[in-house]
Amino acid sequence: MPKALISYYSRSGNTKKMAGYIKEGISSVEKMEATVKKISETTLEDMLNSDVIIIGSPTYFGVMTAEVKELMDKSVKFFGKLNGKIGGAFTSSGAIGGGNETTILSILQGLLIHGMIIQGVQKGNHYGPVSIGAPDDSVMKECINYGKLLGQLAVKTFK
Ligand SMILES: Cc1cc2nc3c(=O)[nH]c(=O)nc-3n(C[C@H](O)[C@H](O)[C@H](O)COP(=O)(O)O)c2cc1C
Repeated sequence: MPKALISYYSRSGNTKKMAGYIKEGISSVEKMEATVKKISETTLEDMLNSDVIIIGSPTYFGVMTAEVKELMDKSVKFFGKLNGKIGGAFTSSGAIGGGNETTILSILQGLLIHGMIIQGVQKGNHYGPVSIGAPDDSVMKECINYGKLLGQLAVKTFK
């Protein structure tokens, strides 16, 4: 049974809500198991034991927060061992054009360097879910669909 880890940092709760919706989407895929953890509670072993790693961060100055980058930097310990896993990213920002896409891409860059498989989104937020402030219904749907998409890919890849 493929396992997904959704690890997030959130100060005012917006990114946390998105993490919950993504979990809902993944869990709706048969044979998928999903866990949500705060970045501060995520261990390197959690990453190693997951087939799918999805990282969520608020947009801070157009990139991921320091806490998220810290986990990314620590993950060098397992460089080579995350190769071939599925990765994804999502963010909440204060403004449209406030650097949300660059935040997602900054996370995806790290995951790609680990050799992870990244699924783009054809219909929707192309790089991964984005919320401007608190997630509304359309962001909720975006997150659920993203979870489904990655869950379905995981079932195909790790069957
Ligand atoms: C230190 C700091 C830097 C921020 N930088 C940006 C930014 O560059 N662009 C933007 O649109 N919003 C920025 N914001 C706003 C947050 O991205 C936004 O409030 C987000 O929804 C917070 O997510 P959270 O509720 O998960 O903590 C910043 C907020 C803080 C505290």
